[in-house]
Amino acid sequence: MPYRPVLRSLALLLLWPAALAAAEKRPVTFSEDIAPLVFSNCAACHRPGQIGPFALTDYESVKRRAKLIAEVTEDRTMPPWHADPGVVAYSNDRSLTKEQIALFSDWLAAGTPEGDPAKTPVLPEIKDGWQMGPPDQIATMPEAFTVPAEGRDIYRKFTIPLNLDKDTWVKGIEFHPGDPRVVHHILYYLDTTGKAREMDAKDPKPGFGGMSQSNGEFRYIGGWDVGTQPVELPYGLRWFIPKGSDLVVQVHYHPIGKETTDQSSVGFHYSDEPTAKPWSIIPVPPHFGMMQGIDIPAGEKEHIEKASFTIPEDCTIFSVNAHAHYLGKRMEMSATFPDGSTRWLLKTSNWDFKWQEDYAFKDPIKLPAGTRLDVLMSYDNSAENPANPTKPPKRVIWGPSTTDEMGVITLSAIFETKEQKEATHQALRVYLANQMIDRLLEGSETVFGQVRGQIGAADQNKASKNLEAARAPLLALDFDKDSKLSSAERIPAIAYILQGAFIKNLGAIGFD
Ligand code: HEC
Repeated sequence: MPYRPVLRSLALLLLWPAALAAAEKRPVTFSEDIAPLVFSNCAACHRPGQIGPFALTDYESVKRRAKLIAEVTEDRTMPPWHADPGVVAYSNDRSLTKEQIALFSDWLAAGTPEGDPAKTPVLPEIKDGWQMGPPDQIATMPEAFTVPAEGRDIYRKFTIPLNLDKDTWVKGIEFHPGDPRVVHHILYYLDTTGKAREMDAKDPKPGFGGMSQSNGEFRYIGGWDVGTQPVELPYGLRWFIPKGSDLVVQVHYHPIGKETTDQSSVGFHYSDEPTAKPWSIIPVPPHFGMMQGIDIPAGEKEHIEKASFTIPEDCTIFSVNAHAHYLGKRMEMSATFPDGSTRWLLKTSNWDFKWQEDYAFKDPIKLPAGTRLDVLMSYDNSAENPANPTKPPKRVIWGPSTTDEMGVITLSAIFETKEQKEATHQALRVYLANQMIDRLLEGSETVFGQVRGQIGAADQNKASKNLEAARAPLLALDFDKDSKLSSAERIPAIAYILQGAFIKNLGAIGFD
């Protein structure tokens, strides 16, 4: 009978309450508990000149808001992080642990003591200037843009010629907001067609408005949002910039109650080495959900859209991003592996349009060919949704402006060969073509954006004519005249759509 270990545990048990009492004796203090937490998790945004509405940089400023801080950390509004806690491990997770959250309410209950000021850590310095060192090229908005004091958020695109006389590989991009208080997030695109210059020239103010062009013809290379660090691509990956490209920066401005100007810059770090591996984005459903048939009735509390894509080649994914507009609510993606097992890649039950995050997986995830990606996106088009931009709610379909909707969950994936990447792009094109065939056969109003009652009679007529014209060649392939396309009839239909201007004009789906 091994009674000794038993005795030892008994002794430990007897000691335990005493040890606990000793640990509990020291009250939670600012200097030893709260300051380290706030300085490393809050102060990067909550300091003068940054996006946080007030500074949290010393005892007084934190103490003054101790109650509010306990509340917003408890309900996980702060720090901003929208993936559901504990579901997927991400390396850039900003959220606090339960123990960290409890410290704020314990500190409040203890009467917010400061403790020994000598023990307060030094506030981490945020380097002025470029965090990744001096860039090889700095692209600055040609003119400052005036952001009014009040009003709706503004989306504005600016064209910046890069004047590169040879194809170039980029390993890192660092964004410098001109006025960080108003710049909420930005997206980068490359334009090799000269179209962005044209549109910029046509618009009398600096830059140009609208979202549509940036989503189709221009090549998306990534983005930046408040609180994110400069991006250096992981795993030796590189972005490709074809010579002669213009950089197009789409900025989301958020008015702050007083007029200000912004002239932001982008710093590029070039590389002599090409990308270590081919890589690409995998958007599900493709092209921002354009052919998904998103059609949300006015007032509907939870409208659900589902999409699935089976990847045709092995790949390794390293990050995931969700995109919708103001009505977006749940954004979820899971993987079902060829052996039938499943795992979450993203689960956000309370997605927020204001925070367009790239969630970087803690460890890259291998997806064997045949893995099915299942996406669920939900939209709240009720009057109770405080983010709903339209009051009273109206029917909302897919479209480029923020009062329309979109929906996509996008993976970043690494391939071993170019052929694997190209096969994946081709599968995405076929997916999009199939969705387009379905929408056209249905006579869906979402394809040409014609919603009865929301556009004038002339536009309505034009849209209906466009729809009929696009449907006719498909109906001609319906040899058995059942108004559906069988899988055999779909083969020429898909070939026809793939040849058409729509898919061709989409531009590159991913990266080189
Ligand atoms: C990535 C930037 C960022 C980080 C990190 C961050 N905040 Fe914030 N915080 C904001 C912004 C921006 C707002 C304004 C509200 C908004 O836009 O969501 C805000 C608002 C607040 C508010 C006011 C909320 C209200 O309802 O009035 C409190 C309190 C707050 N933050 C506390 C914290 C604390 C405590 C932390 C760290 C544990 C933290 N924040 C981390 C950006 C940040």
